[in-house]
Amino acid sequence: MNTPDHDKLSRREQIEDRVCDILAGIDSPKERQQASAHLFGTARMAVLIARKRGLDEDLAYLAGLLHDLRRFQTGISAEHGPEGARLAGSLLDSTGCFTRSEREAVCGAIWFHSEKGSRHLPFDELLKDADILDRMLAEPDEKMTGADARRAERLALEFLSRS
Ligand SMILES: [Fe+2]
Repeated sequence: MNTPDHDKLSRREQIEDRVCDILAGIDSPKERQQASAHLFGTARMAVLIARKRGLDEDLAYLAGLLHDLRRFQTGISAEHGPEGARLAGSLLDSTGCFTRSEREAVCGAIWFHSEKGSRHLPFDELLKDADILDRMLAEPDEKMTGADARRAERLALEFLSRS
């Protein structure tokens, strides 16, 4: 819906509005709150990591914000990387404000973000790390295992150790 007010919104605000619309469709207040906290939390962690590593902060924010939206929308975890990338692509396209390479960066990172044990491009790794960092801070008692735990150890050294 392109009203005059809508046109004044930044592209980030347009995506945030769409994310909030989708989150509003989650019936359970607790699940809705957890979904919102994780998406906005991961978005901010992604900005922090982007600033430290010299990557695009605006796209990092959006990748974090969109990365699990499809999973929260459907309640289905299987294939939520590729499914989430498709939803993110359609939301980015709906604004008409993103170049092909920006879209590829965001959607590529979302596509691969569940593959925590593999290495991908720096921007893909940023999103995986933001996802883990948000969980580390939001759920400090959670015991991570395997690739998640190894990634959490590296992130603790990079961001949380006192020097
Ligand atoms: Fe996540």
